[in-house]
Amino acid sequence: MENQQELIVGKVCEIHDKISKLGDLNPSNQVNDLFSQLVKLCTTPCELDVTKLSQQVRETIADLIRLCGKAEGLLENHYSSLIGSQENPLNHMKLFPYYSNYHKLSHLEFSMLTTHCTQLPNKLAFIGSGPLPLTSIMLATHYLPHTCIHNYDMDPLANARAFNLVSTDPDLSKRMLFHTSDVLNVSTVLKEYNVVFLAALVGMDQHEKTKVIDHLGKHMAPGAILLLRSAHGARGFLYPVVDVSHDLKAFEVLSVFHPTDEVINSVIVARKPQGVYSPVLASKCSQLEGFNFFNHGNVIEDLTVDDQA
Ligand SMILES: C[S@@+](CC[C@H](N)C(=O)[O-])C[C@H]1O[C@@H](n2cnc3c(N)ncnc32)[C@H](O)[C@@H]1O
Repeated sequence: MENQQELIVGKVCEIHDKISKLGDLNPSNQVNDLFSQLVKLCTTPCELDVTKLSQQVRETIADLIRLCGKAEGLLENHYSSLIGSQENPLNHMKLFPYYSNYHKLSHLEFSMLTTHCTQLPNKLAFIGSGPLPLTSIMLATHYLPHTCIHNYDMDPLANARAFNLVSTDPDLSKRMLFHTSDVLNVSTVLKEYNVVFLAALVGMDQHEKTKVIDHLGKHMAPGAILLLRSAHGARGFLYPVVDVSHDLKAFEVLSVFHPTDEVINSVIVARKPQGVYSPVLASKCSQLEGFNFFNHGNVIEDLTVDDQA
């Protein structure tokens, strides 16, 4: 097992070296080929905790995550422009090569959300929606047909591209709103959302991620749900890992799910407590049999993540 881990770390470092030498991360055969190799490697089943690797490897991983984020942004820009140039953009979302991954991920996220929500939200915030807000579009179209989705992104161009995709649709153009702001500058208005989604690439390293989560913990309404994307095992080479026991101190963790198929992100559902929250008490309670605090996926392991919408 240790050999397999060393092999994966070695191969990831080799790919990082090749990617970091590319002058341009816009979609091309060479870029797509290297990232496909990387994704294949990182979805190999393996019990690897990237946070436990040497300082040097962790620095390489931090750089790799930034490069992956940059390439993902460029890929989304490319497909958002292509899809946005069609007459009815929403009918052409499947042109995006990872459409099916997003479809499965949004189904998983919605299923996890409804396990913990007594009623569907009439207003939801998605932080880090990007130029191709597929999750928001899928939620608004298939799962939350009456919900108003407030998308936040710090990049005005990403929001302009995203709005262009829904602007011709009479329903979504009214229910999908776009706000240009760094989430760290959004405070009072966060109290208005019963549910907040946080994209994986908002907070690219441990320090930035904790800062964003702490900010949300301070400003979200008591009782509101935070749904975050994280990464587990070798998938932590691609996206930042949220440490459930350290990074979410202001929240109660309700469930965690680590996909083992082509979906890359883990999903964490947490709730801002209603009153004064004691992590010590919660951690004691979590050791009690039958207490539904740290489910670690157990409750939702039965979920069928099928392509049905
Ligand atoms: C490219 S999208 C990718 C979405 C991806 N599927 C995910 O789950 O992360 C990430 C977006 O987050 C935005 N973003 C990053 N940090 C942010 C912040 N602090 N506040 C608002 N938006 C942010 C970026 O501008 C980018 O458009």
